[in-house]
Amino acid sequence: MKFTSIRLTPPVFTLLILFFLFSGQVLPKPGASDSRKPHLADTARCLPEPNRAVVASPNPIPWGYNLWLNFEPLDDARLKDAYREAITGMYMEPVGATGQIVYRELTEGLGSMLERPLESLPAPAGMKSAEAGLLLVATWDRLPRFIREIMDRPEIPAEGFLIRQVRAGEKKLLVLTSADDAGLLYGAYRLLRLVQTHQPLDGIDLLDAPKTKLRMLNHWDNLDRTVERGYAGFSIFNWHTLPDLRDPRYADYARANASVGINATAVTNVNSNALVLTAPYIRKAKALADIFRPYGIRLYLTARFSAPMEIGGLETADPLDPRVIAWWAAKAGELYAEIPDFGGFLVKANSEGQPGPQNYGRSHREGANMLADALAPYGGNVIWRAFVYSEEDPDDRAKQAYTEFAPEDGKFRENVLLQVKNGPIDFQPREPVHPLFGAMPETPMLAEFQITKEYLGFATHLVYLPRLFEEVLQTDTYREGPGSTVARVVDGSLHDKPLSGMAGVANIGTDINWTGHPFGQADWYGFGRLAWDPNLDSGDIAEEWIRATFGNNPVVVSRVQALMMRSREAVVNYMTPLGLHHIFDSSHHYGPGPWVDEHSRPEWNPVYYHQADSLGIGFDRTSTGSNAVAQYAPELAERYGDPATCPEEFLLWFHHLPWDYKLRDGHTLWEGLGLKYQEGIDTVSGMLSDWQGLKGLLPDAAYRDVEMRLGIQLQEARWWKDACMLYFQTFSGREFPEGMEPPAHPLNYYKNLKFPYAPGIRPQWD
Ligand code: GCU
Repeated sequence: MKFTSIRLTPPVFTLLILFFLFSGQVLPKPGASDSRKPHLADTARCLPEPNRAVVASPNPIPWGYNLWLNFEPLDDARLKDAYREAITGMYMEPVGATGQIVYRELTEGLGSMLERPLESLPAPAGMKSAEAGLLLVATWDRLPRFIREIMDRPEIPAEGFLIRQVRAGEKKLLVLTSADDAGLLYGAYRLLRLVQTHQPLDGIDLLDAPKTKLRMLNHWDNLDRTVERGYAGFSIFNWHTLPDLRDPRYADYARANASVGINATAVTNVNSNALVLTAPYIRKAKALADIFRPYGIRLYLTARFSAPMEIGGLETADPLDPRVIAWWAAKAGELYAEIPDFGGFLVKANSEGQPGPQNYGRSHREGANMLADALAPYGGNVIWRAFVYSEEDPDDRAKQAYTEFAPEDGKFRENVLLQVKNGPIDFQPREPVHPLFGAMPETPMLAEFQITKEYLGFATHLVYLPRLFEEVLQTDTYREGPGSTVARVVDGSLHDKPLSGMAGVANIGTDINWTGHPFGQADWYGFGRLAWDPNLDSGDIAEEWIRATFGNNPVVVSRVQALMMRSREAVVNYMTPLGLHHIFDSSHHYGPGPWVDEHSRPEWNPVYYHQADSLGIGFDRTSTGSNAVAQYAPELAERYGDPATCPEEFLLWFHHLPWDYKLRDGHTLWEGLGLKYQEGIDTVSGMLSDWQGLKGLLPDAAYRDVEMRLGIQLQEARWWKDACMLYFQTFSGREFPEGMEPPAHPLNYYKNLKFPYAPGIRPQWD
């Protein structure tokens, strides 16, 4: 398509789109084979709903649905004028479905923020005839030639973009260009965000590209729409009504992800159901993949290792059995026939009761490589999770993944990525980094974070997670000497790996605001931003998110940012201070349960993790104990191995210490514990009053919602302190320290609290 001679006014453009949508060229003939490569025809028919953020409606969308994509009119008249001068109209050929999204986002988003329709203009022939302030949007090879000549071919990496102001004398044009469609899409969202967050465009020369290949969400969503560890309603994926009912929310979801650079999603739970690999479900998955594709997102499914038996009629799932190998190869063929850009399989095997290769005496490597071979002909990946601990192995659970996988380095196929949780236990409020980071130079790796807050207060606590993610990413593993940060494992630079990235367990559900807690949106947003560039600063990300979500009032921006930044330490203090971990009530993980000791497997009981006794508290992971410290590089092993050098935040993770052990501030361990719990409560109380100080400066619905949630958080922080300190007192036998509020109830009161309907686990109807 060339639009050199027509002025592309919105009505003309709409007619063109309608023409292509309804002409026989693009709609597939009934019964036509779908095993082709995707092209405009495929993507055009799954065009998303119009951008709902700016569609005027008599029934406005409730606060929160539009996430950070509220392109509200700028309220600063001077700034609005400056932007109106910098962008007077747009030249763009909306090529393909992605191009159409870019076109629509820019016209609607800029039109709304600048409160002036963004006029579509034809391609200028040269600088002279170009209108000052013209925005030119095109992949590099489609930019008008005179612009390419002026710009002197810049190096733009895959998925990257360049936003540059080009000048000739007094005249300034704005160019958004990229090497590929995805780059143009990311560049469009960045340009919109620059305006939304009041950043100057004058003289702009912004080249950016993702530092990682895979930026992925993992949904722990079941086919019945329950969400494991989900606290924001049911699954947004309605498998019952798919593939025919394409809920507009699927496109809104993809749009939100694309706006922060997420480019892959596994839509089913890692505790998987083989049914999703049957033909009817593959067709449902295809409908989702078609909607996600124009947003640059590849779909993955979780593969149940025993699927050949459950849905394939075989009597074994042994990865070395030729029938099993053939079954998976055929299944891969079936998947790619429907979804030509299918990402691959995410696999949880031989972990927490899931089937796997070890059921047949085979290794994780043998299982992963077999699946990798099935996907390789189509360019698919196997993402194999390192979250394993054995039913029989009595060794420290924190050690088992390293023991299992580190010796296998270099023995996996090229298309196998090992997905490693940020810490060696399980998404605790604070953990030392996983010892596998940096320890497998030959194996592509994905760092796995939890965006949903299984152990951080569900969707009622305000805890800004990118601060936690940043702490992990900036930790030095010392594997290749100083500077071997986890961020460099994630971006692949530590061992020069082309394939690497970050996966986040999604916090998204059917709640109108997607994430339950309005600030859960910041976690989703921040995850995407850090997956794009793991060296970003979490404070900067918070600021961006606040401006995009709540506007640019400097009082709001600075106070909300300060509140978010201290929220992460607060949760550590009021739940698991000084290195305590996994003392949550069992199964649902809601609230404290340090006393729980009745489960069959030792590591399913909180008493296993805190090891409190009359002498002291903490898990000895030094050479006198489980020696988990030895799994780290010598610099870290040494630092963590000695209580005198171990950061106090990890003290009880690595050491069993006497109640009278002297902390660095002179308090005993017992006193310090109580004071940390109190500090956590005091921080939340401060967060609540700071929030109340913002009344009237925030959207009312968001203000009230967060205020109520902070009230719950404060109550629950007190509950944690009371329950844990009363329980640990039965061992320490000491008075509570001065400065700690006394508990409100006796220990038995807390022990008797039961929550059979706590969310996040499959409901039991009785
Ligand atoms: C945790 C969580 C489970 C989940 C598991 C996993 O143990 O409680 O619900 O299945 O992590 O990551 O596989």
